Amino acid sequence: MSIFASVPKAPADPILGLVGRFKADTSEKKVNLSVGAYRTAEGKPWILPSVAEAEKLVVLDTTQDKEYQPIDGKPENKLPVQQLLFDQSVIDSGCIATAQALSGTGSLQVIAQFLKFMGVKKVWGPNPTWGNHPKIFARALLEYETYPYWHQESRGLDFAGMMAGIQKMQEGECILLHAVAHNPTGVDPTVAQWDEIVAACRERKLIPLLDNAYQGYASGDLAKDGYAQRLFTSSGLEFFIAQSFAKNFGLYGERIGYVHAKCATKEAAEVVLSQLKIIIRQAYSSPPKHGAAIVNKVLTTPELKDMWLKELTLMSNRISDMRVALRQAIEAKGTPGTWNHVTDQIGMFTFTGLSKEQVVRMVEEFHIYMTADGRISMAGLNPSNVQYVAECIDKAARGV
Ligand code: LMR
Repeated sequence: MSIFASVPKAPADPILGLVGRFKADTSEKKVNLSVGAYRTAEGKPWILPSVAEAEKLVVLDTTQDKEYQPIDGKPENKLPVQQLLFDQSVIDSGCIATAQALSGTGSLQVIAQFLKFMGVKKVWGPNPTWGNHPKIFARALLEYETYPYWHQESRGLDFAGMMAGIQKMQEGECILLHAVAHNPTGVDPTVAQWDEIVAACRERKLIPLLDNAYQGYASGDLAKDGYAQRLFTSSGLEFFIAQSFAKNFGLYGERIGYVHAKCATKEAAEVVLSQLKIIIRQAYSSPPKHGAAIVNKVLTTPELKDMWLKELTLMSNRISDMRVALRQAIEAKGTPGTWNHVTDQIGMFTFTGLSKEQVVRMVEEFHIYMTADGRISMAGLNPSNVQYVAECIDKAARGV
């Protein structure tokens, strides 16, 4: 009898599992709108030219070695990534504890373990949210509850519901917020709504955690997409950020990201960093070098940074164009329902509003891979497949 006899087989991951199914599908019509990863107009993955150039420079750099990085990443790598989120005066104050981590998920893992260590009992996340969120906090043995976020009728933000949800949260509990380009809905609070959210976090004495996975993808403009962080910082609140460079540098496989804790004082930041390092040391000892070196090279080489900013605009513009094309194609068919949300929503995803049954049809019958909640990755659309996708959405919506 195997020692593993009582281990039950787990289901495939709801997002990454679809990628495997897509690859195995032999249909010529197949379209991958599942995982949030950028694709070119030809449907191909894209190595950003700025990243390719930086990588060459990193590989050719003879001063590089293969030694361990410090537990929290190289100190010189921190400033340029902090500058994407914080004003220089805040950085200079020393109030930010920053540690390199394994992209967005790895950063969230470290923060979740740190919250548990701090004695936080509960995390509140938006409903819906990225499928991995609740599992990450559960793994850290934190309670997890949701607050309202999506308004089905308007296919927009349920702001009143969200604010009422915040009123139920207790002092010292953590509120998870998507910094920009909410995954899966593509619906963000307005500037005025963010003001109210920050005020409510202060009033309820909450611990905000901003998941920043799509900065630059919503508007193509890093500063605009960084609004929530700046607002939280200027409010004087203490909060966490999980920063991922998977999407905005196209560095999905390098697992590069950072944890930031904005603290009230320099002394607090030093203490927090010392404890973050203990968590990292025990979890995986120290972070990988390559992605960190590439990001640093791009951000500290003016020509490469300039290229990168243009590439961000190009990617976000291509996605916006696909929003317009998909909406036009669906509306041209007179598909039941309203479809303005396709162009109103922002970032990488559209929350189509298709039901679970309709999604099953999209995948099984039409070979269009999308997540069960009705989310499609707009980056997977291109001029060659958008008509087919619109046709299939039309059939699914009509039930024909
Ligand atoms: C997604 O939501 O598709 C991405 O964040 C990729 C992932 O890890 O799930």
